[in-house]
Amino acid sequence: MNKVEANLRPATGNAKLNALVNDIATLCQPDRIHWCDGSDEEYAALCELMVKGGTFVRLNEKKRPGSFLARSHPGDVARVEHRTFICTDNKDDAGPNNNWADPSQMRDTLQGLFKGCMRGRTMYVIPFSMGPLGSKIAQLGVQVTDSAYAAANMRIMTRMGKKALEVLGDDGDFVPCIHSVGAPLAPGEKDVPWPCNPDQKYIVHFPKEREIWSYGSGYGGNALLGKKCFALRIASTMARDEGWLAEHMLIVGLESPKGEKTYVAAAFPSACGKTNLAMIIPPQGFEGWKTSTVGDDIAWIKPGADGRLYAINPEAGYFGVAPGTSNKTNPNAMKLVERDAIFTNCALTDDGDVWWEGMTDTPPAHLIDWTGADWTPGCGRPAAHPNARFTSPSTLCPILDPAWNDPKGVPISAFIFGGRLSHTFPLVFQSLDWDHGVYLAATMGSEATAAADNQAAIRRDPMAMLPFCGYNMADYFKHWLGLKNKIKNPPLIFRVNWFRRNPEGKFMWPGYSENMRVLTWIVERTHGRGEAVESPFGHVPRFLDLKWDGLSFDKHKYAQLMEIDRGDALEELEDQKDFFAQFGKRTPETLIEQQLRVRKRVEASQEVWKPET
Ligand code: OXD
Ligand code: MN
Repeated sequence: MNKVEANLRPATGNAKLNALVNDIATLCQPDRIHWCDGSDEEYAALCELMVKGGTFVRLNEKKRPGSFLARSHPGDVARVEHRTFICTDNKDDAGPNNNWADPSQMRDTLQGLFKGCMRGRTMYVIPFSMGPLGSKIAQLGVQVTDSAYAAANMRIMTRMGKKALEVLGDDGDFVPCIHSVGAPLAPGEKDVPWPCNPDQKYIVHFPKEREIWSYGSGYGGNALLGKKCFALRIASTMARDEGWLAEHMLIVGLESPKGEKTYVAAAFPSACGKTNLAMIIPPQGFEGWKTSTVGDDIAWIKPGADGRLYAINPEAGYFGVAPGTSNKTNPNAMKLVERDAIFTNCALTDDGDVWWEGMTDTPPAHLIDWTGADWTPGCGRPAAHPNARFTSPSTLCPILDPAWNDPKGVPISAFIFGGRLSHTFPLVFQSLDWDHGVYLAATMGSEATAAADNQAAIRRDPMAMLPFCGYNMADYFKHWLGLKNKIKNPPLIFRVNWFRRNPEGKFMWPGYSENMRVLTWIVERTHGRGEAVESPFGHVPRFLDLKWDGLSFDKHKYAQLMEIDRGDALEELEDQKDFFAQFGKRTPETLIEQQLRVRKRVEASQEVWKPET
């Protein structure tokens, strides 16, 4: 009996899972196999192992109890979109929004890469549930990985271990998620703190077989396969086939002083303050309002028996961007990370705590930066990597919604779509109906960097799903359009833009907590109450339709924030044409029609449309 066979002690009677573990162990040749049970003891042992191996630094127990810092390889710091593949039989089914690869050729490539790739390492078998255990909306997966870091993070980000295995049972199905850092160890070779493969990275999805293979990276979405790979790319194909939605959306609950609770789901591309909105604190003037977080990144949404849409957060933790998070921008996130967190690529303070750009106005006088080097203010390098992260369990969120773990999900009353746009788009507008709303979501975009000259190009990011839709986006638009026939009282659809700038290049809207003023107008609209007027882009609130208690905001400034310049709008509509053209005949006619209707409204409008004050 070889070493691997000796370690093959199935923890389940599930034949598919046992066959998977056997096949992957035979292919990858790990030294040991560890079936994760998800216990506290196991998590503690994994962390201890990583402290000993140099992957983790244990942080000061007094300052940051139960927390650790990891520093990645400098070449393994983010998702690798250009190395992310969708393997469908026909290239067109993956669409221009994805890198396509031929499934059988890719299988051959992967067999070559994974052969012996876990030598010298432990193979962790991680059964997990995306969504509350046993929920009809949830799905099971099993990640097989040679990364202890991935195993520890999966423990936070998913419902992982024995309980997930019990739900799986002997006959249950699951999504296989095969992961290796691609760094086998020769006999006696000493490991490095962050093993990865600097030359070869592959993040591969087989939507038909519902399978994920990831090679070469240990970081975030490349390695925590329940997140972007499963919960968005694979789940979006499941959702298309089964009539539901897997979306890149936060879910937040808003409770009025009268106790009326409304849930909204919102999609924003990366770097638009999604975690801040998910954990928003009502500003001054909103006493009596309560906010609560269901999720900060992903929503799975299904029609319920009453015809409404119900959403769960498939994740059990937050993998949030650390830089920019502070007591000013997101006090709830600062409380969330006070203990039991894993920090990755943050800076280390001299007293064993973490720091990142934006955490405090004045940086500490000395730090160890994310690369492990000495750092002093003014040295010209960031102390934390801009994509430095915290991994924290949902249960530590100070405003966690009581229904966050409810298997039924929460009813969604509005969808909000937003990008980072310095020009053209008002603070908020509501679609005229479902089809118009899908058009607004499909054409949304963001500027990579908001330029002060108001001329930055828009990168289209439909529904904030461009890197995450596991199939042709034109078919995804069709799926969204078709959903209206499956639901009663569809959620209202809104676009927001917190990032408009004035001609001097200054942000016109204070953002953060003040976004609550927009959210409560949206809530009112969902209950058929809030007032609005019609603009060329859709329904918009007048100054008097928003609640201004606690903030002095000038009426004329508001009019400027809400204006629609006919020339700019026509330019935007021209630009959208190229985007639709990419999808050729697959682009749904309904979207083209919607675009023509908007054009007519814009052409018929004044040179500069403003809501009356
Ligand atoms: C994320 C992203 O990491 O959207 O959540 O990039
Ligand atoms: Mn995201």
